[in-house]
Amino acid sequence: MLKTISTESKSLGDTRVAMVLCYINGISHQVQKPEKLLIDYLREDCSLTGTKLGCGEGGCGACTVWIWTVDPVSMQPICYTVNACLVNLAMVDSCYIMTIEGIGNRKKGLHPIQKLLTQYGGSQCGFCTPGILMSMYGLGQKCKASKTVLDIEQVESHFDGNLCRCTGYRSIFDAFKEYVQVANQSGTEEQPPQDLLQNLLNVFGTRRRTLRIFTSNAEYLHSMTDSSSLSSYLHFSPSSNINIDHIFIRPTSLEQVMHYKRVYPLAKFIVGNSEVGIDVKMKHRQWKQFILLNDVPELLHLNMCSDGCHIGAAVSLDKILEHIEQLKRSEHRFRAFYALGKQLKRFGGVQIRNVASLGGNIVTASPISDIQPLLVAMNATFQWISCNDGIYKKAIASDFFVGYRQTLLHEDDLLVDIWIPFTNESEYVFAYKVSRRQEDDIAIVSAAMRFVLRSACYPDTISFRSTLNKDILEDVSIVYGGMAERIKRAEQTEAALRGSPLDPRLLMPICFDTLDRDFVLNADSPGGMVAFRKTIACSLLLRSFYRLEHTLQIMASHSIHLPKEEDERDELDPSFSCRAIQTIPQHLKSNSGFLGSSSPHPAPFLQCSGEAQYVDDIPNASMDTLYGAFILSSEPHANVLSIDCSQVYDTLPGMTRIFFSQDVPGTNSFSIVHGVCDEQVFCSGHVTAVGQVIGFVVADTREHAKMAARLVKIEYERLPAILTIEDARAQESFEPCCGRMNLSSVLSPHWIEDGNVDEVMNRTDLLKVSGKMKIGAQEHFYLETHGCLAIPGENDELVLFVSTQSPAKTQMAVSKVLGLESHKVVCKTKRIGGGFGGKETRNIFISCAVAVAAHLLKKPVRISLDREEDMCMTGHRHPFLGEYRVAFDKLGKILAVETLLFANIGNTLDLSMAVLDRALFHSENVYFIPNVRFIGRLCWTHIISNTAFRGFGGPQAMAIAETWIHHVAHQLKMDPESVRSINMYRSEGFVPNTPYGMPLIGWTGWQCWQSVLESSDFWNRKQQITEYNAQHRYRKRGIAAVPTKFGISFTNKTYNQAGVLVLIYLDGSVLVSHGGVEMGQGLYAKIVQIVASEFDIPLHKVYISETSTDKVPNASPTAASSSTDLYGMAAIDACRQLLDRLKTVDKDFCLSWEARIQKAYHERISLSATGFYCTPEIDSVDLSQNQKGNPFYYFTVGAAVSEIELDTLTGEHHILRTDIMMDIGRPLHPVIDIGQVEGGFVQGLGLFTLEEVILGDEDHSWLPRGHLFTKGPSTYKLPGFHDIPRDFRVSFLSNAVNHRPIIHGSKAVGEPPLFLAFSVFEALRNAIESARSDLSSDACELFCALDSPLTIERIRMACYDEIVSHVLHESKAVKDEK
Ligand SMILES: Cc1cc2nc3c(=O)[nH]c(=O)nc-3n(C[C@H](O)[C@H](O)[C@H](O)COP(=O)(O)OP(=O)(O)OC[C@H]3O[C@@H](n4cnc5c(N)ncnc54)[C@H](O)[C@@H]3O)c2cc1C
Ligand code: FES
Ligand code: FES
Repeated sequence: MLKTISTESKSLGDTRVAMVLCYINGISHQVQKPEKLLIDYLREDCSLTGTKLGCGEGGCGACTVWIWTVDPVSMQPICYTVNACLVNLAMVDSCYIMTIEGIGNRKKGLHPIQKLLTQYGGSQCGFCTPGILMSMYGLGQKCKASKTVLDIEQVESHFDGNLCRCTGYRSIFDAFKEYVQVANQSGTEEQPPQDLLQNLLNVFGTRRRTLRIFTSNAEYLHSMTDSSSLSSYLHFSPSSNINIDHIFIRPTSLEQVMHYKRVYPLAKFIVGNSEVGIDVKMKHRQWKQFILLNDVPELLHLNMCSDGCHIGAAVSLDKILEHIEQLKRSEHRFRAFYALGKQLKRFGGVQIRNVASLGGNIVTASPISDIQPLLVAMNATFQWISCNDGIYKKAIASDFFVGYRQTLLHEDDLLVDIWIPFTNESEYVFAYKVSRRQEDDIAIVSAAMRFVLRSACYPDTISFRSTLNKDILEDVSIVYGGMAERIKRAEQTEAALRGSPLDPRLLMPICFDTLDRDFVLNADSPGGMVAFRKTIACSLLLRSFYRLEHTLQIMASHSIHLPKEEDERDELDPSFSCRAIQTIPQHLKSNSGFLGSSSPHPAPFLQCSGEAQYVDDIPNASMDTLYGAFILSSEPHANVLSIDCSQVYDTLPGMTRIFFSQDVPGTNSFSIVHGVCDEQVFCSGHVTAVGQVIGFVVADTREHAKMAARLVKIEYERLPAILTIEDARAQESFEPCCGRMNLSSVLSPHWIEDGNVDEVMNRTDLLKVSGKMKIGAQEHFYLETHGCLAIPGENDELVLFVSTQSPAKTQMAVSKVLGLESHKVVCKTKRIGGGFGGKETRNIFISCAVAVAAHLLKKPVRISLDREEDMCMTGHRHPFLGEYRVAFDKLGKILAVETLLFANIGNTLDLSMAVLDRALFHSENVYFIPNVRFIGRLCWTHIISNTAFRGFGGPQAMAIAETWIHHVAHQLKMDPESVRSINMYRSEGFVPNTPYGMPLIGWTGWQCWQSVLESSDFWNRKQQITEYNAQHRYRKRGIAAVPTKFGISFTNKTYNQAGVLVLIYLDGSVLVSHGGVEMGQGLYAKIVQIVASEFDIPLHKVYISETSTDKVPNASPTAASSSTDLYGMAAIDACRQLLDRLKTVDKDFCLSWEARIQKAYHERISLSATGFYCTPEIDSVDLSQNQKGNPFYYFTVGAAVSEIELDTLTGEHHILRTDIMMDIGRPLHPVIDIGQVEGGFVQGLGLFTLEEVILGDEDHSWLPRGHLFTKGPSTYKLPGFHDIPRDFRVSFLSNAVNHRPIIHGSKAVGEPPLFLAFSVFEALRNAIESARSDLSSDACELFCALDSPLTIERIRMACYDEIVSHVLHESKAVKDEK
């Protein structure tokens, strides 16, 4: 017990209440809903829809806004960015908030960062754009405030709190790097108005020193504002008969905190709300009373004293980091702080660190915290006070954490201070974090090691070796996160090490056994990855020994400076810098007109200013608009026994109605393809996946609808579930025997066969390999989730605004479900915030449910899915399993291949047959193999239906092809690139044919391959890497080259058609409508270019407003990379019809465009035309009959070389360089096309190395069966800004032109580059092979079979060393014992 604070009531100072006061973009707001999230307030109440909701959990940065306020201690202005989705209004009281609309718009002028981002093509779908711009704006303002110069390094390290799914990030970096120059040369305009901020300094300053209480309850509010005396607050208690909805108290002293905690014992303390906010959103915790600690000076100190540092519990992580960065680097006493700084840099993203507090992290007591292991290792002391009795207590960190998310604190305790002692001269501290992604990710394992050496190291007197011999580990702290239900010391290991000499080689064997005893993890331990976590625990300990040894070595040999030079036993250099080169051969660029030029187009300007509208941004047209929420199955396979909605109707206000299958006015089922009606709007009694729709609730607000959906109780009779390909194979759950409906007329196994595989496989003179590879699912993670707004009209008309790639399919399904003819239903899409295939069909059941409600209630109904719902309901890229057999000769020539592909399609057919067909069509990638048999099987499982995803089965099949190539190379001890070269299609004097009989006319794959090998200096670098690897044991490099070819056209021949409507108005302006959807791929921009070029008029004269089924009927989905080809050609058709007509009034086009149009009008010539195009010379190739033909119009081809660096102790890696060479013909719009290549590559990078969809199944027995674990950005990791190649070079092939008569000789570019990211996978395999060859000759003999995604877990376990060997043997021994 320390001291006490009096708890008697006494005057607690001046108080002001009760409306939140903030400024938004210069306008004052007084608000009475303190609990409302800032993002909701901005979007719903202020119509500032530029701030986007991408995830609602602080993980994507789409909602970033900038905040300016007054520091409650220094009373100086401070500014920072926050995630508006985690900040409620009470938290932004006394803040000036700037949103994207505030920094610039088209009327008042764009800010330079908005202009530059547009110019560099850094905004594709645009959904992430406002958030990214606000982050950049925040950085600029922060520099301005701190009077520091903005530099490129800051830009490169700043965006760890933002995600973009489209661009590949390079263009964003380039735009902002240019901004650095602009800003430093000219200084940007003062934003926001400095005079206003100066005035607010006093107002906000006074408020932040004044106790404030906010509530949404008007009566209470009135009682407070009526009285100026403090007693009205003091005497208020929850027993009062005023019903408090929410109350937020912002005390300004410790005494006030204690007082209000006694008045409201259930009140929740908050600082950054980054933990509490998540609990409220994801776990639906319903706290009503909050005490905000942000204005309490006693919790905001950061004091260095003689023996350590006191940090107030409410100090933000960013402030601590800033403080650490100012410490002198060389002082031994700060070693723990350097380690803390390192951890903090990888903690969350900037926006989280700006608000999250150290106290909040400690009290949360997460077992995977990055910081707590360090605090425990350092014997940090926590001090807290009981708000009830005012008694202070303290404990050292290791005693503080007592169980899973449990600490010594009681409900009424307030953490006040954290004391971190300085390190003495012989004390060394290291901290580590291993996570899936380097930035903004939760640790899988975190660790801190503290060593006290018995004799200090005196470099001038002791030689390096003798120093080592003399150093004894006198005291040791080894602490891990992620290894138990709480942060835990490895006590037995610590004991075993105490008194030992420092020698990593001797110590590790001891630690193997003790660590096993310290941490017993069962196979079903939460989080899984048991063997990996154990391996990492050992690896990090080994690393810390080496680090210590190395530190001593440096100190002994040089000076007191900590090591800076590269040490291969240490971690990879986390600093990131990206250089990029894009090469577009001069003659491919436009020399006249718009085609081939990167003309600016208006959409990105709108996206950059936040004015671009997505479905959820459309304002409610009428007051009676209702909101929907889905009732979803929680069982993978079950009969629904009963549905109980009584609680909903009994308890909820604003409830309107719940819809189930019996309410559907038309038919409940519909078909996606082949007339197979296996899709249902609402499940009709038999659920076949977790996340399947059972019902749809409609209510007056979003919140009421969601709450109602949660209150519906469903009783199930569970049935056995098939979840994986392995399950499906064991149960023979293939087409057409799924038992759900007879699909035999539609489906049968599909295959491609050419030559005589069996005969070649039987040849004894050939070598053979066989193997298999699994490729996991991938989540689309378009930044804009699925959304729909349905507005009923007269006579059963219905207009739908939908985020879809396929308005026409949506229209058709909705009319069927409503029992209407299609002419009554109009489906409109202006733009979508990313689709990638995920919105080709999986929006349809969502739109149908919304349509049913709107149609029956005769009111507008809308929905925008939460990220979690979206990920659970809408399916993924198909997981594949490929088994292969290959026969080849000694020179590496492959003579026969057989592959068997299994695709996990989920619970409905959707587009799976077409996905499998495309996989089969790409099974040979770019290799001429004379004898092939490729067989595809669809596996029906009880998971949500998988669907289209950029590449559409092609990348999975090509990955399997590159794997068997590598396997052959391994067998022959050749470079895989040599085997690739030997077997690649060539067109020297003849046109090669694919196994399905399509001639490769205009084949440039070989040129791309040769060109990229040469431009990347591949063979020299490969040699250098071999030398590098020979000298490094724990850090390996790898390099690989991979080619690709991608067929352009829908393999469903019917879809290869397009319609365009061109209208010319009397002022000469042109409105174009077509069936394609703009989703960031630049389709609208390219069509505008084409039309303007045809008419020879300025770009601004041509406009595309939206895609709508009442302008162009029956449009195919926007997919298969071919929309520009299709709609571009159809647009040309329409334009040429009009030009022909115009010639009749102005034969030689002597008149101006406007005069010509006027004249045509007066001469009664029609000024509108529909254009049509259908791709010629393609065949419908039926693979159920092994038919031959031309499924594609042409191929887009390319090749890439990637070099990576791998930390073999943790599996972490980064890409040093990637070179891409693509033949995209003559690019129509180089900036857009480069963006597609980079974006596709980075999405492929996610597919093959990072993004892991985790579902409860045999491999993840710690999860409920069939339930998705990866439901948001916290668990599912997309590539971030720092995952892209540090040197990123994209080139287009010289002299390229499409041999087909497609506009400007261009080629499709959307999907083809994605597979090139497999070069990273192969480079990693290359590095792993090098690690294995160092460590075990046995392991090196075996082909390194790797599944995708090649996560750090898979990589580390594949780097088979003594640690992995120990862990695996130990796990086996435990299993055997059982
Ligand atoms: C996107 C995102 C990324 C994240 N990344 C990481 C990461 O990389 N590593 C990591 O370890 N964590 C991470 N977190 C978790 C979280 O941000 C941290 O735990 C953070 O430090 C919590 O601080 P806060 O101020 O926001 O806490 P709050 O949410 O305000 O509070 C958290 C808890 O602490 C209590 N509390 C706060 N202060 C006190 C006090 N003084 N006395 C008593 N109780 C108190 C609150 O009542 C609550 O129970 C992340 C969270 C998000 C949303
Ligand atoms: S929406 Fe706020 S961070 Fe994603
Ligand atoms: S442009 Fe970044 S998510 Fe689409």
